[in-house]
Amino acid sequence: PGQPVQLTFALRQRGAARLARLVQAVSDPRSPRYGQYLSLEQLRDLVQPSPATLMTVLKWLQGHGVEDCRSVTTLDFLECYLPASTAERLLPGAEFHRYVQGQQSLVRSPLPYSVPAELAEHLDFVGGLHRFPTERRAASRARKEPQPARASFHLGVTPAVLRQRYNMTGGDVGLLPNNSQACAQFLEQYFHQADLAEFMQLFGSGFAHRTQVDRVVGRQGRGKAGLEASLDVEYIMSTGANVSTWVFSNPGRHESQEPFLAWLLLLSNMSSVPWVHSVSYGDDEDSLSYAYMERVNTEFMKAAARGLTILFASGGTGLGLEHQQQSAHLQCPRFPSPYVTTVGGTSFKNPFLVTEEVTDYISGGGFSNVFPMPEYQAAAVGRFLRSASKLPPSSYYNSSGRAYPDLAALSDNYWVVTNRIPLPWVSGTSASTPVVAGMVALINDRRLQRGLPTLGFLNPALYQLQKQGLGDAFYDVSGAGRGST
Ligand SMILES: *[C@@H]1O[C@H](CO)[C@@H](O)[C@H](O)[C@H]1NC(C)=O
Ligand SMILES: *[C@@H]1O[C@H](CO)[C@@H](O)[C@H](O)[C@H]1NC(C)=O
Ligand SMILES: *[C@@H]1O[C@H](CO)[C@@H](O)[C@H](O)[C@H]1NC(C)=O
Ligand SMILES: *[C@@H]1O[C@H](CO)[C@@H](O)[C@H](O)[C@H]1NC(C)=O
Ligand SMILES: *[C@@H]1O[C@H](CO)[C@@H](O)[C@H](O)[C@H]1NC(C)=O
Repeated sequence: PGQPVQLTFALRQRGAARLARLVQAVSDPRSPRYGQYLSLEQLRDLVQPSPATLMTVLKWLQGHGVEDCRSVTTLDFLECYLPASTAERLLPGAEFHRYVQGQQSLVRSPLPYSVPAELAEHLDFVGGLHRFPTERRAASRARKEPQPARASFHLGVTPAVLRQRYNMTGGDVGLLPNNSQACAQFLEQYFHQADLAEFMQLFGSGFAHRTQVDRVVGRQGRGKAGLEASLDVEYIMSTGANVSTWVFSNPGRHESQEPFLAWLLLLSNMSSVPWVHSVSYGDDEDSLSYAYMERVNTEFMKAAARGLTILFASGGTGLGLEHQQQSAHLQCPRFPSPYVTTVGGTSFKNPFLVTEEVTDYISGGGFSNVFPMPEYQAAAVGRFLRSASKLPPSSYYNSSGRAYPDLAALSDNYWVVTNRIPLPWVSGTSASTPVVAGMVALINDRRLQRGLPTLGFLNPALYQLQKQGLGDAFYDVSGAGRGST
């Protein structure tokens, strides 16, 4: 009963409709307000909960003796530490147990909880009870046995291959000291500075680059480096070369935290954060509550209002293959907010040469069952659905939903240095996502040099560019890849 647990209270925000209009205005290049982003303090003035909400929630907590709470700049989250027994009284229905798997141990309450009726209109959800860390869904995989036919020829993707394929010259590196980019690591994934240094020594010739992460926010464990973490850092710093790089790593001070939620709280509590964030992490829509998804979506709108770019890996399981057996026949999409940019994967058509790209069969994609299709992509998706051949039966996907991914880049056969060992054959959209993030950071670098605002939420601009003619801005990855279904 005395076990401390950490709960996150998501307080009902104000100004949701105004926030949506503002994000639209500052993210649309055709708008006179394009790029006129808000500071964190201005954002707080827009979204902070009403005094009645703050009072009611605080009185409720204090009434149960919950005192150890911390707020964020935008005042719309409270993070509190309290004994499990108090949490059970506070949230009727909750029942905490300790769950152990391998080295990991978590305290969670899998049962539904409730809050008193008078609190319901003041809270979006309470975090820290239900959710277990999932395996990283965007997980890259190191192939145990490379296909022998290719092993002898294909040297794999390195920074040089990426920079050649994406036409990046030696001059395409960051120049500004105050530009920045970040990767977010969750679930006890750590990188080692020594791996990064060795990686750059092996693969970093031909472009100016940094060999150090400038800032780690949160705890970096002492353990072995994780493949994911090494991959993220090494590749965001290869395309976003010479750009100051941060890592957000397992924030919070307690084992029972929810790292993803804790990261959102950090963003709401730091007035100065990198302009670009690469996240190789995701959840399936059907594992999340509607209230949680709606609120997390609002958190991404808050980031967009500040001019931050958030990129998510589109995931590794194609059209929700493991769910297709279900009776509904609807695929189970990842959780693609319409306010983030999702990145899928490609591979080289000729695996031996730096040539055109085709779809990587491991790249996830599809349609949301929760978020309706945003205006910005309606024309592009409509064109795709009319012209695509070999679509699955329409009962397998919900074409009224937000479609993803938005962009793609190479995701196959990367070299990664992890625990001082160069490892080939690493694949996944968690490779393509930091690659794209680094490119966005470079574009921001050029824009900041010219006194222009950062790109912020990309999608309205991306789809407008695409409409203006593919040749100039984007390469259309239309071919099916090896092993594609
Ligand atoms: C937010 O930042 C303030 C000031 O640095 C700090 O006191 C507070 O504990 C932070 N909140 C959380 C939830 O970490
Ligand atoms: C790189 O530049 C070449 C020559 O201008 C062009 O043919 C190619 O499509 C470009 N590659 C990409 C990925 O845009
Ligand atoms: C790398 O960035 C720094 C600023 O952070 C800049 O002073 C330096 O000139 C850049 N290096 C190159 C080779 O462009
Ligand atoms: C970055 O530095 C440049 C040059 O010193 C300055 O003009 C610009 O305002 C700074 N931008 C930010 C976002 O701090
Ligand atoms: C399809 O997506 C819409 C949102 O665009 C949603 O309202 C609807 O419930 C979804 N249908 C199914 C069967 O999940």
